[in-house]
Amino acid sequence: MEKNKYTQSANLLERAKKVMAGGVSSEFRKYNHPHAIFYTHGEGSRVYDVDGNAYLDFTLSQGPLILGHSHPHVLKSVNEYSQQGQLFAGQHIKEIELAETINRLIPSAELMRFCLDGSEAVQTALRVARAKTGRKKFLRFEGHYHGWLDNMCWGISAPSAAALGSREQPEAFPWTEGLPDRVRDEFIIAPWNDLDTLKKIIAAHHNEIAAIITEPVMCNNGCIMPAEGFLPGLREICDQYGMALIFDEVITGFRLGLGGAQQYFNISPDLSIFAKAIGSGYPISVVAGKKTWMHLIEEAKVIHAGTMNAGNPTVAAALATIDVLEKENPYPGMFQYGKKIMEGLREAAARCGHSLVVQGPGPMFHMAFTNKTEIKDYRDTLDTDRVKLGKFVAGMHDRGIRIIGRGLWYISAAHTAEDIDHAVDTAAEVFSNI
Ligand SMILES: Cc1ncc(COP(=O)(O)O)c(C=O)c1O
Repeated sequence: MEKNKYTQSANLLERAKKVMAGGVSSEFRKYNHPHAIFYTHGEGSRVYDVDGNAYLDFTLSQGPLILGHSHPHVLKSVNEYSQQGQLFAGQHIKEIELAETINRLIPSAELMRFCLDGSEAVQTALRVARAKTGRKKFLRFEGHYHGWLDNMCWGISAPSAAALGSREQPEAFPWTEGLPDRVRDEFIIAPWNDLDTLKKIIAAHHNEIAAIITEPVMCNNGCIMPAEGFLPGLREICDQYGMALIFDEVITGFRLGLGGAQQYFNISPDLSIFAKAIGSGYPISVVAGKKTWMHLIEEAKVIHAGTMNAGNPTVAAALATIDVLEKENPYPGMFQYGKKIMEGLREAAARCGHSLVVQGPGPMFHMAFTNKTEIKDYRDTLDTDRVKLGKFVAGMHDRGIRIIGRGLWYISAAHTAEDIDHAVDTAAEVFSNI
């Protein structure tokens, strides 16, 4: 198979670097293979770059493109509704339609506000929780990602599992320079999927904790399902101590089903955040929750604002996306295709003697080269062979298949049975070359 070349992208990157910091608009985009790539267009399950390479895309732009690239119904709705205006510094009727739709699909979303991205919606939920409880801190879990803002840039990068220290008092490594010292007092970190350790931490700190925030499936380091009883355990702890249970459904929302992870696992959080898949690539996010918490925003005791919130194109995109998801119900197919690739990867890796763990629910899943039989938490992900993973991701990319560098795959409604077979065949070839 002829391998991809990247000359035009390399040239454009040099030009971009002269005026754009690092040549990119988000840090993660630097870490493509072999460097940041410039794309020309995307359609369905494929995306194309300036060198004329076509990629079967399993990154889905880090998750949002649940319907694939350039879905015609989404584009048509965005285009038509944008003819009426972009932003009014006021309300428009489709906002209500969108909120009513979300409220119908997700019972805990009794009241909501629209924002632009996951990071700021997370901060809104935390503000509500602090205001309601009068407590200052939130509890978060090792390896979970809740955006790039100051109080969340911790616990997501560590040199090794050993460096994290004790499970009761994990070391919190900052992800970046420039963080104010004061934000270190805003949070407590706990290992995920470990209810016994969590209970000890909560016993010592519950008077300070306003909320527990969690990804219901840990997708940003590995792809780890909640252990049996873990999410119900969080619900109980939050009820017992009057804390908000916040589900960060930026990835799981509209990906595990129309009702998100809360429907999938049948747990009702107090507050939730949706982003990514709801907007098919347009900047819209939702902070939603029960009236007993969200009334603070309703009464303007907690302020939420934003010039750009809920503009016509983004609301139209979200309504159109949900419309297609409801009418076509691609979820059984996404689960099935995901499981088929996962199985195919396991078999192909085993044939070549690679120790590989592939895990996740299907619509998203993760692969890691490790001698372990399962990745149970963040600490396990730090001990995997990331050099080998880098070689695999590069080998796939050179052969026209794009997956996220940390080993995560996203399935969309646009992927076909042929796409899945092609991905597995290509992976088999790459396994035999690394
Ligand atoms: C679980 C989770 N929460 C929050 C965020 C931040 O969302 P955004 O990048 O839209 O600010 C992300 C982004 O990847 C995420 O995966």
